[in-house]
Amino acid sequence: MIAPAQTAPSIRVKVKRQDTPGKEPYWQTFTVPYRPNLNVTSLLQYIAGHPVTAEGATAAAPAYDAACLEEVCGSCTMLINGKVRQACSALVDPLLKENAQEITLAPMSKFPVVRDLMVDRTRMFDNLRRIKAWIPIDGTYNLGSGPPVSPKTQETLYPLSRCMTCGCCLEACPQFTADNKFVGAQIFSLVRYYNLHPTGKQDADERLETVMGEGGITDCGNAQNCVKVCPKEIPLTDSIGALGRLATVYSIKKFFTK
Ligand code: SF4
Ligand code: SF4
Ligand code: FES
Repeated sequence: MIAPAQTAPSIRVKVKRQDTPGKEPYWQTFTVPYRPNLNVTSLLQYIAGHPVTAEGATAAAPAYDAACLEEVCGSCTMLINGKVRQACSALVDPLLKENAQEITLAPMSKFPVVRDLMVDRTRMFDNLRRIKAWIPIDGTYNLGSGPPVSPKTQETLYPLSRCMTCGCCLEACPQFTADNKFVGAQIFSLVRYYNLHPTGKQDADERLETVMGEGGITDCGNAQNCVKVCPKEIPLTDSIGALGRLATVYSIKKFFTK
């Protein structure tokens, strides 16, 4: 007797689509043959090569961002089964254990959609410019070596330096909305980072002025959602507390010196 042909199990991937900014979103489901140890980006790669829906209709391949494929650039951040995270580090096997029926992929909700799973994170990069998120070492001549960074300061700085501007903390933050100016936990943590650095300190007052203005630290409701979703495990609530103290000291100093 001939054994019945075995069909490979397949993964149902439901993708939220949006053709252009401002257009109505819609959902499409695709099927991808199961293989062990896949990640979500590889599902999207498979769909790009086989853009046919589960119902058999030819579709445009879903657009998505990716660059480093190792959770360093943050560009592939999206909502996977409703949770904000990176597609490249989201492994399929554990996701199927959560929900064997299907994996849902949607763009982050707090940023304008460019197309499908791609969002425009310009607001985050504009905020980095506003707080001068850099160490000022450029010059027209050799400035020599900067002041040493003590091992104790390095220990504090290193975890803060891991931010990849992915947007997870902002997606999860109830204070961050599409139409307000709240800068969010990422910026608070980076102001702490650059103001602690012995060379970065040069612009410390300017950074504090920025985060003490509209959309700054006083708008933080301390809900602490941000720290729970940061993929780099940055101690964001410590940074918010530390920055609050720095801002208070700066205000008092300003009051007595003006
Ligand atoms: S503590 Fe809450 S309000 Fe403040 S940045 Fe984090 S999530 Fe947003
Ligand atoms: S602080 Fe964490 S969650 Fe926020 S942008 Fe940086 S890496 Fe992403
Ligand atoms: S592709 Fe860079 S974090 Fe996923």
